[in-house]
Amino acid sequence: MWPILVVNIVLSVIGYSLILNVVPKFKDMFVKAHLSGLDLNKKDKPEIPEAAGVITSCIFLIVMFIFIPFPFSKHFFNKEWGFPHQEFVQFMAALLSICCMVLLGFADDVLNLKWRHKLLLPTVASLPLLMVYYTNFNSTTVIIPKPLRFVLGHDIDLSALYYVYMGMLAVFCTNAINIYAGVNGLEVGQSVVIAASLISFNVIELNGDCWPNHVFSLYFMIPFFFTSLALYQFNKYPAQVFVGDTFCYFSGMTIAVVAILGHFSKTALLFFIPQIANFIFSLPQLFHILPCPRHRLPRLNRETGYLDPSVFQFKESSLNALGRLVLKIYRQLGLVQVEYNGKDGELSQSTNCTLINLALKLAGPTHEKNLAMSLMVLQVICSGLAFIIRYPLASLFYDC
Ligand code: UD1
Ligand code: MG
Repeated sequence: MWPILVVNIVLSVIGYSLILNVVPKFKDMFVKAHLSGLDLNKKDKPEIPEAAGVITSCIFLIVMFIFIPFPFSKHFFNKEWGFPHQEFVQFMAALLSICCMVLLGFADDVLNLKWRHKLLLPTVASLPLLMVYYTNFNSTTVIIPKPLRFVLGHDIDLSALYYVYMGMLAVFCTNAINIYAGVNGLEVGQSVVIAASLISFNVIELNGDCWPNHVFSLYFMIPFFFTSLALYQFNKYPAQVFVGDTFCYFSGMTIAVVAILGHFSKTALLFFIPQIANFIFSLPQLFHILPCPRHRLPRLNRETGYLDPSVFQFKESSLNALGRLVLKIYRQLGLVQVEYNGKDGELSQSTNCTLINLALKLAGPTHEKNLAMSLMVLQVICSGLAFIIRYPLASLFYDC
């Protein structure tokens, strides 16, 4: 196991330096191909190459393709052991799902797909993975947490619902990263922290009974960590490239793949605390109960150079009862700042329902660089919290 992990780390470091070399050379090519976006929170709104995530994900795939023979090498030389076809198919299906997601993510960057397509794409890309799960494991039983056992018993077989859950996990991971965005470095930065947390979790669990699952996860997470870290060097403030939806989909899918095939999806979700909070907070806008502008990223105050929360405007009469109720609750909880305008024909406004805008509402106007750094620190703190929930607190809910 260890020599193979060393090979994996060496290939990942090569991938890291390759990305550092390749991205600057491809920048102009992206702009010429009209794959670019305006950096909205800079005074001069520079045009920046977009979808650089396609370079990272391709180099990740190249690293993984070169790595394929190594975990199976002992079986090439010792024929008596028999070849582990199931493990091999699992490895291939994981790569196939990630590869599909990169393709569909790139299509999104080029074609600017609608939100309903964004929900459909990860579902489609996760199908090869679910098929392999069905043929290899088909274990759909979940252990019930201790406090609920007196009602539901020790475990419950979710059968088809378990597959729906796994498909939804892929949809959630990809989109949750994509909508927690809008400040330089955040999309890729959060992915780097989540990858580092998962690697730490896998290393801790190498001493446990399920160590092969965690070795499998490390084979994917280590190259993912290094290639994303390289991209972060170009996407952090002031951004030289945007990562595009390609990266968000690639990142979410890679994490979902290891969580599903490594059988630790609940723990993986613990590392998504800010993303879950942002997703739940965003739901009224995502489902158009409240108006949702195309961009909800913070807005630049040109005089101070600091970021303020962005807003959406609405006519009170155009909100339905549910919209009015949600806005009232959010306002009372201090989650949004609403300015009602009683005069006829004039619009009221509220800050957009994202964690980034909430952070700005609480902290006051902040420079983009400091905001990005604070959100990264929050991600790290939440990972620490996840480890506390996973280890000392888990014994309250499960037999560990
Ligand atoms: C998601 C968010 C949207 C947010 C956008 C920006 C939802 C429902 N959608 O949309 O609110 O505004 O991401 O990431 O929450 N950009 C910057 N600075 C950055 C990152 C992005 O200015 O640090 C701008 C650039 O113009 C870039 C564009 O955002 O071209 C990318 O947006 P895109 O990824 O296409 O937006 P969505 O993922 O659809
Ligand atoms: Mg995006």
